[in-house]
Amino acid sequence: MRTTVLIFHLDYARSHANRALADAVDTSPDVEIVDMGGLYPDGAIELEAEVARLLAADRLVLQFPVQWYSTPPLLKAWQDTVLTRMYYMRPVEEGERLRGLPVMIAATAGNDPSAYTSGGANLFSLEELLKPLRATANRCFWRWADPFLIYRANKASADELALAGRLYAKRLAEWN
Ligand SMILES: Cc1cc2nc3c(=O)[nH]c(=O)nc-3n(C[C@H](O)[C@H](O)[C@H](O)COP(=O)(O)O)c2cc1C
Repeated sequence: MRTTVLIFHLDYARSHANRALADAVDTSPDVEIVDMGGLYPDGAIELEAEVARLLAADRLVLQFPVQWYSTPPLLKAWQDTVLTRMYYMRPVEEGERLRGLPVMIAATAGNDPSAYTSGGANLFSLEELLKPLRATANRCFWRWADPFLIYRANKASADELALAGRLYAKRLAEWN
């Protein structure tokens, strides 16, 4: 069972939270970690390579830091290139092959959980803000898993990030 973790971070070299999460799950040969920002720093995604990577996945994790209440632009670029080709141009030959693909969002946010409430600074919960990804998964006939969300990501101590990594590894290990 191959779990493909695509990390969309434009400055992964300086990441603390996303790197801690990735390092915690990068212990199994069944988990493939892909630093998409490192591969495509200018946002020009290699279409054939990424279509092939997705077709080889048994489970997919889209991991990223929340930016401006949304995903980093590279994740949108991946949707616009890879998913447009697979689901609009070749839905039968490619898209259909991933029907039922389990997908999980792993997102880190700088703000506190209390900010992500109707009475808080950000008005909406992260789950609400991430609904376009859920709609994408629905459109692609993927199987949605509860997102793995980390708050206060840029304020967390090394111990807190290590704990988050262990919880992430547990989520992926128990994912069925
Ligand atoms: C351009 C930019 C926009 C950001 N927007 C948000 C935001 O909307 N909400 C939030 O909670 N954190 C926001 N952050 C904070 C990041 O989510 C946080 O620094 C990141 O998750 C930490 O993970 P890392 O150590 O892997 O970089 C933003 C950070 C940057 C650089």
